[in-house]
Amino acid sequence: MKEIRDMNILAIESSCDETAAAVVHNGREVCSNIISSQIELHKLYGGVVPEIASRKHIEKINQVIEEALREAQVTLDDIDAVAVTYGPGLVGALLVGVAEAKAIAYARHLPLIGVHHIEGHISANYIEHPNLEPPFLCLVVSGGHTHLVCVRDYGKYEILGRTRDDAAGEAYDKVARAIGLGYPGGPKIDRLAKEGDPDAIPFPRAHIADAPFDFSFSGLKSAVLNYINGCQMKGETIRPADVAASFQKAVVDVLVEHSMKAAEEYGMGRFAIAGGVASNSALRESMKKACEERNLKFYHPSPIFCTDNAAMIGAAGYYEYLAGTRHGWDLNAVPNLKLGER
Ligand code: KG4
Ligand code: ZN
Repeated sequence: MKEIRDMNILAIESSCDETAAAVVHNGREVCSNIISSQIELHKLYGGVVPEIASRKHIEKINQVIEEALREAQVTLDDIDAVAVTYGPGLVGALLVGVAEAKAIAYARHLPLIGVHHIEGHISANYIEHPNLEPPFLCLVVSGGHTHLVCVRDYGKYEILGRTRDDAAGEAYDKVARAIGLGYPGGPKIDRLAKEGDPDAIPFPRAHIADAPFDFSFSGLKSAVLNYINGCQMKGETIRPADVAASFQKAVVDVLVEHSMKAAEEYGMGRFAIAGGVASNSALRESMKKACEERNLKFYHPSPIFCTDNAAMIGAAGYYEYLAGTRHGWDLNAVPNLKLGER
């Protein structure tokens, strides 16, 4: 296999409920970004059903890849490497993308690069910010993760804090279900909160002794459920918009406070957000303001690159490729893959 630096990567992402493929040139130029969402299917069950996700991925994956190549106006002859998410995520879902990537790479004699899903989310920031380079701090907030990460260099990560229980997106989804908004809850709470009073209900903000950068959202989630039950028992009607706005403010306050504390302590001049919850309008607004007050440069991907997509895997895959990462034909899905592991 020849070494190439000017390259097109075919990237594949199937770790949860989006079947996605993209063609990315030199890590930052997105030539195509195709996402086939299964949301309508999983909505019926109030959340992602792993087996249904795997079955849908296998049905869609070739179609999505074909579309990604077509939109980028390339064929497999123009592809120089294949990058794929191999963890963390749902094992059956990951296996579809991994098997597909291995098959293409093997048949075309291309380098195969396994990518960590969170590394992908962080790298989404490179796509629209050509000047962004490590080191910087990144808050990764998704349905499965809440990590405060110091990006020391491309591919070099130090986790400063993480959630002790629920991820931020998970809390959004659970609270949304409790107030009858359905799945996925994040965007629905985001919208409804605009009509509510964020100071209407004093929900708790969790701080963990001796771990200033860690998070906990399960207490907040229980407080919201208790509030709703309490109102129902007293025969009072709840105002869903006030619950949504107050819950959202409690989440955003903690995310911003811990992030800014870390930025100050680590002396970082650049701060980025990533993951599905990074598309939240209240979080983006508060984080932007907090960064401006501290003279920090603030970065965030467009919403389409915040939620799961393959372009971010192509961006991460490029820098992994440059760092020498090549996976063998024995690459497997690793559902609990740790950030920084190879
Ligand atoms: O990154 P992502 O697509 O998948 C994971 O890796 O988990 O994140 C999905 C999560 C879901 O929990 C969804 O409710 C949340 O991101 N989300 C939002 C918004 N858009 C998506 N949460 C808050 N506000 C939003 N606008
Ligand atoms: Zn994700």
